[in-house]
Amino acid sequence: MTTGKFITLEGMDGAGKSTHIPTIIAALQACGHEVVSTREPGGTVLGERLRELLLHENMHAETETLLMFAARREHIDSVIAPALARGAYVLSDRFTDATYAYQSGAKGVVAAKVELLEQWVQADLQPDLTLLFDVPVEVSMQRLATARSPDKFERESADFFTRIRQAYLQRAQQNPSRFRIIDANRALEDVKQSVEEIISTL
Ligand code: TMP
Repeated sequence: MTTGKFITLEGMDGAGKSTHIPTIIAALQACGHEVVSTREPGGTVLGERLRELLLHENMHAETETLLMFAARREHIDSVIAPALARGAYVLSDRFTDATYAYQSGAKGVVAAKVELLEQWVQADLQPDLTLLFDVPVEVSMQRLATARSPDKFERESADFFTRIRQAYLQRAQQNPSRFRIIDANRALEDVKQSVEEIISTL
């Protein structure tokens, strides 16, 4: 039984989603909500240790999928579900749509296997709102080129990012009531305004 709201942020690496977290937190807090801001992979002590492995060790795409869901299981149990149950708003920088986009869309893990794990780990927990920060692949790659020390995902090819973008847009098309697509290839202030407008409708 959940009473809070679950908001997730998604997009390719370099789409700029994380920049808007403080804006979203401030807007929700201004409405009197308790906000729990978290991320995936990560969000728990074990999850952050798994994140280190996931972002820096090469592994089979299915191993990666299983570890993402192992971290997620822990995250739901110790952070997300308790916060929602007490009426808090949970803001997660990535969630299961990222597994569909990266491990399935870009790396070819069969979507039915991801669905099985999703069913197992989440039961009927789904985000209430997902903001998809969308930028053309060239923009994302340009932004990443100046990143300090790219992780293994950030070093991938343009083809890889093209598959991620397509998979995200497909997820959005399949779940129109949950997703809002934000054109993140604009001035920061304009993107921020779009984010604020969407959050104000909650
Ligand atoms: P971040 O850079 O947005 O913090 O995300 C870390 C990386 O993890 C990012 O490149 C996307 C990747 N990732 C997956 O491949 N699958 C997942 O399920 C999640 C949550 C993240």
